[in-house]
Amino acid sequence: MTEKDFVPGPFPKKLSKGQATWTAPSNIALVKYWGKGPDQVPANASVSLTLDVCTTTTTVYYTPLKKRAPDFSFDILLDGKINIGFKPKIHTFLRRIDPYLPFLKDVHIRIETTNTFPHSSGIASSASGMAALALCLLEMEKVANPDADEEYCNKKASFLARLGSGSACRSIQGNVVHWGRHPNVEGSSDLYGIPYPYKIHPVFENYEDTILIVHRGQKQVSSTAGHDLMHNHPFASRRFEQANENVAQLQDILATGDLDRFIQMVEHEALTLHAMMMTSVPYFILMEANTLKIIKRIWAFRKRTGTHVCFTLDAGANVHLLYPQNERKEVVQFIYDELVILCGEGQLIRDRIGSGALAR
Ligand code: DP6
Repeated sequence: MTEKDFVPGPFPKKLSKGQATWTAPSNIALVKYWGKGPDQVPANASVSLTLDVCTTTTTVYYTPLKKRAPDFSFDILLDGKINIGFKPKIHTFLRRIDPYLPFLKDVHIRIETTNTFPHSSGIASSASGMAALALCLLEMEKVANPDADEEYCNKKASFLARLGSGSACRSIQGNVVHWGRHPNVEGSSDLYGIPYPYKIHPVFENYEDTILIVHRGQKQVSSTAGHDLMHNHPFASRRFEQANENVAQLQDILATGDLDRFIQMVEHEALTLHAMMMTSVPYFILMEANTLKIIKRIWAFRKRTGTHVCFTLDAGANVHLLYPQNERKEVVQFIYDELVILCGEGQLIRDRIGSGALAR
């Protein structure tokens, strides 16, 4: 499919006043997306686990305007309060998706959004937030064209979400999602995420992700600025190749449930992401001292117990601990005994692999 396939034809029905509500999950990448071209095209393919507990719920109320407006007419509320801070990002998003939802200037839109995780927790809400918003806006198209099929709608929701935030395109469906054109992955596209099309070993069912909030508050580097650092980065082209090689290797790892190789790849990916930021110009260290302490304690615990807990990181200091459900008891005990003390005021979120967004 190309961009043109997402430009709708004339709608059989006219929009009247209405509303749509969706809950969309966050996701955590196993192979990371870091580096992009214009129009949110990723520099390499990525694969993520869809989460279950960390979600955004958004309601969009739409009211037809008497006359088509010259610009988008919208309000945004976070936790019931008008939030002007989000307006520029949403405006950019609406501008990017306008060709694909051409009725957006015909309506006033009121966006009400809440997250299950605290806004100040340092967990990015852009993936779940943009996915939930894309799904709500697409709902208007579904009203105007009730014949659109489910597969098309999932692809289009992911396509639209990507234009808000790249990783958001992996927050529409579960449980494992692939995004980015890749020769070994059938049906893969730079334009949208797809449910992982290959075998996934049962050991990954109910996989858990406990998120340790080491650092609350705003990220040191926004993702947009971070992706930009990959332009003219001395190691960028090799990194993009490596990520695509990892995506290829992951096929066998996920199919066989080889947790030792899984751990090696996931941790290596996380450290490579941080290495890219440590070696860009300007350079950044996004880990905190406690991030490192947590990593070392995980390694020692794994050596001592033979369990399969591993870590991954986003572009920040917080640590995601991934482990199979059948090792949960031991790992959770370890988290409370040794790791909680390293998080800001005992902050952690127990999450797990999830099945994707839901209409409310
Ligand atoms: C480190 O999706 O937040 O989490 O497209 O600029 O919104 P934008 O970037 P974003 O980047 C996420 C980067 C990452 C890795 C990943 O999720 O793959």
